[in-house]
Amino acid sequence: METKTVGVLGAGTMGHGIAQVLIRSGYTVLLHDLSQQFLEAGAGRIVKGLNRDVEKNRLTAEEREQALSRLTPSTRVSDLREADFIVEAVTENFEVKAGAIRAIDPYCRPEVIFASNTSSISITRLAATTGRPDRFVGLHFFNPVPVMKLVEVVPGLATSQATVEAAERLAASAGKTPVRVNDGPGFVSNRLLMPMINEAVYCLLEGVADAKGIDDVMKLGMNHPMGPLELADLIGLDVCLDIMKVLYEGFCDSKYRPCPLLEKTVSAGRLGRKTGRGFYEYPK
Ligand code: 3HC
Repeated sequence: METKTVGVLGAGTMGHGIAQVLIRSGYTVLLHDLSQQFLEAGAGRIVKGLNRDVEKNRLTAEEREQALSRLTPSTRVSDLREADFIVEAVTENFEVKAGAIRAIDPYCRPEVIFASNTSSISITRLAATTGRPDRFVGLHFFNPVPVMKLVEVVPGLATSQATVEAAERLAASAGKTPVRVNDGPGFVSNRLLMPMINEAVYCLLEGVADAKGIDDVMKLGMNHPMGPLELADLIGLDVCLDIMKVLYEGFCDSKYRPCPLLEKTVSAGRLGRKTGRGFYEYPK
């Protein structure tokens, strides 16, 4: 089945970015969020992103209007019934994701493929909560979605070859480079990235250096575009903590223990850029 219409669940940081690249690539996108406020904010960020592309001469004003005409934001789950392919990008929590997927399952045709943008949760386990484990796959985009080239494509135990290939085609047609990785906690990306970020938080906790010092070491010494603490603020400290917990529980290995300072910072509501404060402050 050819994919023309994609349903995107969740209009947050990842969901709105995924919707933006898909409408730019010619897909019709049904952007769904339970919250009208989140939906409007997500749609607003898409308009801003496309305006930026027009300013930078990467898109004409007419192409922007055409792309926006392919976007339908909605809070009604039943509106997703037109979708040929669903990408779930809700909160990084098993119960929340499974609940969102279960809620839409009855509205979608049996042949529709479900993809999860989970950063670390088992695709096999999520797939098992649906009636279509063979048509369920991980499709892990990176933040900021319009900029980052990679998409991890993650088959679960029951995922069919046809589903994996459809997911790879979708990613490639959206200008991304799909890389196939197997279903293990954190896949490849976050199994490598999150322990580095967690260790940076330990360095901060132990006073090895201050936040800027830690970030400068990795930027100037390793050529990383952002230091680990800046990057954690971009990703969201709650997301980083959730992923560390998945690694810790998934491997039952103390080397993945979330740093207490990461836990404390999240408990204080300092979640990074999105709340205006994480390891750094972001005045409005
Ligand atoms: N959304 C959309 N576009 C953005 C953006 C954002 N949040 N932040 C930056 N950009 C765009 C800018 O608009 C700019 O494009 P333009 O000027 O041509 O329009 C381009 O990116 C470069 O931005 P800047 O010149 O302002 O800044 P930099 O050159 O420093 O690049 C960066 C910014 C692309 C964010 C770069 O610092 C970077 O690559 N950082 C690392 C990001 C990264 O590692 N992401 C992966 C996170 S892990 C993840 O997502 C997995 C998840 O599971 C946790």
